[in-house]
Amino acid sequence: MSKYTIAWLPGDGIGKDVMDAARVVLDKINLDASYVHGDIGWEFWCKEGDALPQRTIDLLRSVNAAMFGAITSKPVRAAEAELVPELKGKGLVYRSPIVRMRQMFDLYICHRPCKAYPGNPLNLKDGIDLVIFRENTEDLYAGVEFFPVPKELSETLLKLSKPFTAFRDLQGDQFAISCKVNTKRGSERIARAAFEFAKKNNRRKVTIVHKANVVRATDGLFLDEARHVAREYPGIQFDEANVDAICMWLLKNPFSYDVLVAPNLYGDIISDLAAQMVGGLGFGCSGNIGHRLAVFEPSHGSAPKYAGQNKVNPIATILAAKMMLDWLGETEKGKQVERATAAVIKEGKIRTYDMGGSHTTRDIAEAIAAHL
Ligand code: NAI
Ligand code: MG
Repeated sequence: MSKYTIAWLPGDGIGKDVMDAARVVLDKINLDASYVHGDIGWEFWCKEGDALPQRTIDLLRSVNAAMFGAITSKPVRAAEAELVPELKGKGLVYRSPIVRMRQMFDLYICHRPCKAYPGNPLNLKDGIDLVIFRENTEDLYAGVEFFPVPKELSETLLKLSKPFTAFRDLQGDQFAISCKVNTKRGSERIARAAFEFAKKNNRRKVTIVHKANVVRATDGLFLDEARHVAREYPGIQFDEANVDAICMWLLKNPFSYDVLVAPNLYGDIISDLAAQMVGGLGFGCSGNIGHRLAVFEPSHGSAPKYAGQNKVNPIATILAAKMMLDWLGETEKGKQVERATAAVIKEGKIRTYDMGGSHTTRDIAEAIAAHL
């Protein structure tokens, strides 16, 4: 029996291409693991009305960790599901399986390192080394949404929230409500994860990202909790930034930032921005981490226009595999994968289209494997 069982969830679009590439690297490094395929994604929603079938949930309950490629999400409401013959009459609404997976397994940390590897022609500036901690289970992604809006909800809101009356005379199908829900527990534990990471990895500073001046209740709570946690780490500097301002400051002064911690939506946005600063989505890796399970993935989506072409950059997924090795405690193997990836980037001989080359997804994986 292998030491580890890893759920292997390629998903849709380029998910399969980049996961095949990561597997070339994991096989070369001889991780003592068995990989068990799991169904996830758009195809299963269309066929079965469930993008995250129960059999995949059961699989995730039984493994040490998971690797995930990408899924295609479309904003499908019940009315659109009626157009799919198999789903007609079932009143189904599409919910992103990755968001469900994060909530179901309480994968509350989304850890996204963004490092400019030397020699990458796409780096905004060499030396950028940011780490984002995104809260992963609540905020605007909580899934508390209403469309059409039930009358009892709009009446209650009008009673409780006097200043905002834009929907006073509207029918429930003329507006929609998505609730931003942030808890003390959720805010405290993501802030703690960021500060603990900073402490263990000798990082100098943590920046709390928010918009508490406008979104006072939820972001105010997030900021208060993060400040409380910050006081427990006197050796680490901390500062605070509005989410809009930091999009400008990150580009202007990237070396002023180190570790950033943010609620779910802002964390999602700034991590794409930070990924672009170090080469684009082909370099943004991500770990969804809970107490028992962790799911590693590239930050990018399924890029349908490149699906099955063996063309996109697999480095984000290979770096996600490196994060998985670290999480499993295989840190020496993790270091080897990162060194080999950095070497291929630096040599610059094998490059996919995004880096100005014409090599394939598999060529990159084989070049990295050759350094192992
Ligand atoms: P995307 O991340 O799939 O792609 C946007 C663009 O980034 C691509 O067209 C391509 O130019 C570039 N890109 C992405 N990955 C790349 C790679 N590995 N190498 C080189 N270039 C790469 O985002 P988009 O187009 O907004 O979404 C496509 C689908 O993916 C949607 O259905 C969306 O809902 C879904 N999605 C899924 C995510 C996930 O599975 N975790 C995350 C983000 C989006
Ligand atoms: Mg995203």
